[in-house]
Amino acid sequence: MALKEEWQLPTKCLGRRVLLFDTVDSTNTQAAEFGEDPEHDGLVVVADSQTAGRGQHGRSWTSKPGAGVLLSVLLFPPQALRRPALLTSWAAVSVCETIYHCTGLEARIKWPNDVFVQGRKVSGILIEQSKATVVGIGLNVHQKADEFHQAGLTEAGSLAVFTSKELDRIPITRLLIEQLDEEYDRLCQGNLDTLEGRWQKRIGLVGEQVLAECHDGTYCGQLREIAWTGLELAVEGSKTFRIPPEAVRHLKPV
Ligand code: BTN
Repeated sequence: MALKEEWQLPTKCLGRRVLLFDTVDSTNTQAAEFGEDPEHDGLVVVADSQTAGRGQHGRSWTSKPGAGVLLSVLLFPPQALRRPALLTSWAAVSVCETIYHCTGLEARIKWPNDVFVQGRKVSGILIEQSKATVVGIGLNVHQKADEFHQAGLTEAGSLAVFTSKELDRIPITRLLIEQLDEEYDRLCQGNLDTLEGRWQKRIGLVGEQVLAECHDGTYCGQLREIAWTGLELAVEGSKTFRIPPEAVRHLKPV
């Protein structure tokens, strides 16, 4: 596993050091190797391909060499930012903004952390926390629709499926790191509202009938509000109750 390249971006925190590899087992694993020392705060690991890329719920994440952005960020966030709901929103919004800047496409966030374009999942996020936090992002860029079809990934898509614009993975990677850095800097300065507003807009669903699958059961009702402090659902027309975001596994329109 040889280092191919190293970048030092003129960012505030994330990407001041970026390590680029041809192939690693998992960029999350590689980033976590630096997790004992806060000196490495903001380190980014990027790879062209992974032999053991991890997804949510023990699944794997596959992407043929050079087809997508595969990166992991190592962070030592201040206590106030160490909330999975917030960090997930941060990564998902940054991916959506990056997609918009390089393609003009408006992406949506599907709870909790999938990014969709026109009904297809183009990006997934995996956050792993110990002493440090590792935020792993996979973004499909060049794959063709029939590749997903042949792999049985009927829900998946890539940016190339939806745009005829010229796409280059390297500037997209850089843009994503810059976007993550900009949003993270705002959070560190205590401005949580900008990100929360962008996240609310990308999730949508307010006013719609939804199904919230929670750890203790499933709730159906009209979504009145969605915020990091909780989701407000109106059931049977009038009674409302709040659910903490950490309790919600899936949220879908019905
Ligand atoms: C999901 O299941 O949707 C989350 C997928 C996360 C995949 C990315 S690819 C880069 C990073 N390294 C990993 O092993 N996983 C994440």
